[in-house]
Amino acid sequence: MNTQEVILCEGLGNSLAHALAQCPHDKVFVLTDEHTHRLCLPLLEGVDALENAVEIVIGPEDVHKNLETLASVWLELSNKGATRRSLMVNLGGGMVTDLGGFAASTFKRGIPYINIPTTLLAMVDAAVGGKTGINFNGLKNEVGVFSPAVSVLIETEFLRTLDDRNFFSGYAEMLKHGLISTPGHWAELLSFDRGSIDYAQLKAMVGRSVQVKENIVHEDPLERGIRKALNLGHTVGHAFESLALAENRPVLHGYAVAWGLVCELYLSCLKTGFPQDKMRQTIAFIKENYGVFTYDCKAYEHLYALMQHDKKNTEGVINFTLLRDIGEIAINQTADKKTIFEALDFYRETMGV
Ligand code: GLY
Repeated sequence: MNTQEVILCEGLGNSLAHALAQCPHDKVFVLTDEHTHRLCLPLLEGVDALENAVEIVIGPEDVHKNLETLASVWLELSNKGATRRSLMVNLGGGMVTDLGGFAASTFKRGIPYINIPTTLLAMVDAAVGGKTGINFNGLKNEVGVFSPAVSVLIETEFLRTLDDRNFFSGYAEMLKHGLISTPGHWAELLSFDRGSIDYAQLKAMVGRSVQVKENIVHEDPLERGIRKALNLGHTVGHAFESLALAENRPVLHGYAVAWGLVCELYLSCLKTGFPQDKMRQTIAFIKENYGVFTYDCKAYEHLYALMQHDKKNTEGVINFTLLRDIGEIAINQTADKKTIFEALDFYRETMGV
């Protein structure tokens, strides 16, 4: 798999002009959703290389991350004269970068694409690492390919207008990167104060966070081994996310991951000797900034069934990524039903459900 260039921009227009010049093309297509068309595209005005670009606008949010939207993008590419030498620029959150990356990677057997993530979640996770795809048959990211962007341009100026909930949703993935990397990065993440943001410090932290992901993806692009480290918090987190959706009270992905981390750090203490004081410090941060996802013991069987259906499992055995300490990763761990229920009890006691 090709590697991708991730740039922490000093000026988005210049970085984009440079990235476009590096990638020979005959025509540029810019994919936006209705929000980024209105709020983010104006920031690219004045980039000469986009003068004749064709914009494709899709509906926003996860509900549009489907085959119908994908087909509409292929259709626009086809009708508006895209060739094998055309280039796509995906400007948006994870939904746009995932779907746009998949559309580009499959159109005429693959054209190059550049990601410009506009949310924190997309900057530190979705837009980096080459996972592309759509939801299908009621399942998230069921169809897709590993296919990295040629460049990912991270412009943290977009974060100035991000609402709190989307900010913390992305921040949960940063917290995960802290836990799987170094005590220093983890500690700086826990001490960050959303109330008085220093944007220069935030930019530096985003840069360090992306680097954690890039290093792991570089080592294991196809998730055969160490890339599973990035699944920390996600086995329980995805179950919370799906339960919330089934009960018609959807939660943002990062919130589900943060709550999932509570259970998976508990499992880490129990099974791989993660220090209790570090678990308590991390949970205090989550409790303060993410509030609580509520469920009672009647939901345990449903949550367990959801974990059993996770696509990371093999032969029905629930797969966890756990930690021995900060940065000491234990992939391919499992836990029996009784222990998982104990972790769900622990969550409710600790979070005060
Ligand atoms: N979001 C986890 C990964 O890219 O592997």
